[in-house]
Amino acid sequence: MGTALVTGSGIRVGRAIALELARMGYAIALHYNRSAAEAEATRQEILELGVACELFPFDLQGEPDAGRLVDQVSDRLPDLKVLVNSASTYDAATIAQTTPELLEKQFKVNFQAPFFLIRRFSERCDRGCVVNIIDNKIAFNQYPFAAYLLAKKSLAELTKLAALEFAPNLRVNGLAPGMVLPIASRSPEFLTWLTEGVPLKRSGNLDDLTHALRFLIENDFVTGQILTLDGGEAIATEGRNAPSFEAQRPSSSPPGSA
Ligand SMILES: NC(=O)c1ccc[n+]([C@@H]2O[C@H](COP(=O)([O-])OP(=O)(O)OC[C@H]3O[C@@H](n4cnc5c(N)ncnc54)[C@H](OP(=O)(O)O)[C@@H]3O)[C@@H](O)[C@H]2O)c1
Repeated sequence: MGTALVTGSGIRVGRAIALELARMGYAIALHYNRSAAEAEATRQEILELGVACELFPFDLQGEPDAGRLVDQVSDRLPDLKVLVNSASTYDAATIAQTTPELLEKQFKVNFQAPFFLIRRFSERCDRGCVVNIIDNKIAFNQYPFAAYLLAKKSLAELTKLAALEFAPNLRVNGLAPGMVLPIASRSPEFLTWLTEGVPLKRSGNLDDLTHALRFLIENDFVTGQILTLDGGEAIATEGRNAPSFEAQRPSSSPPGSA
């Protein structure tokens, strides 16, 4: 089956992805930065599934060329076949609030690291696939998350460019989830309110996400695609049109009724 490198896979979404790939039979290169204890616990779970798993601590913000991580993996585990870019950093800030440091951090972790990882992966892997974990927010212009969104939108564009440049050897796709695992600080009221805006009236879960990931990895005719997985949230913006203009006008009296 070969080896799969999953960035940010000690915890949460990345962890679920690593476990799914282990169930598919891949040896796992488990990358983490700060979550050392959680990464070791995930490694133990993966070993119990009967596949190899090694830990790769690496700071994607501090390192100018994240491609070095691919070299470390290729030197220790055989036959690198899959790269999943899941590691991410999420900061709320409008353009007005964004400092140079914040902009750099957002672009380093969410865009530049995947860029150099994909580039080196293309050199170290003859035939394989990449999945970039993006965000359904790329469909919106939510300026309170300006730097995060710009970096994720850039990652979506990189997905298409890399799919073209590295075909036919590599397939490069993206997954754009809506809410699948909210951060701990979100209140139940907020989550209910958010879900009400989703056409399918529910949030996603890790099974939804790993099913979609499996599809992108197994379907050999799909490349350059971004699969949005969000219960329809990203298609829910109608924009303005003539019927909605009429509907918002004060009810006009039928002609001649005054
Ligand atoms: N959770 C959701 O509902 C949701 C929704 C939409 C999109 N997504 C996307 O799904 C992916 C995972 O989401 P998540 O919620 O699990 O993220 P998360 O809880 O914020 O975890 C972030 C991950 O990125 C790693 N990371 C952050 N900064 C790093 C750095 N400088 N160097 C190396 N690794 C770094 C962390 O590693 P350490 O902990 O080891 O430092 C951690 O594994 C992200 O790409 C996110 O944008 C998630």
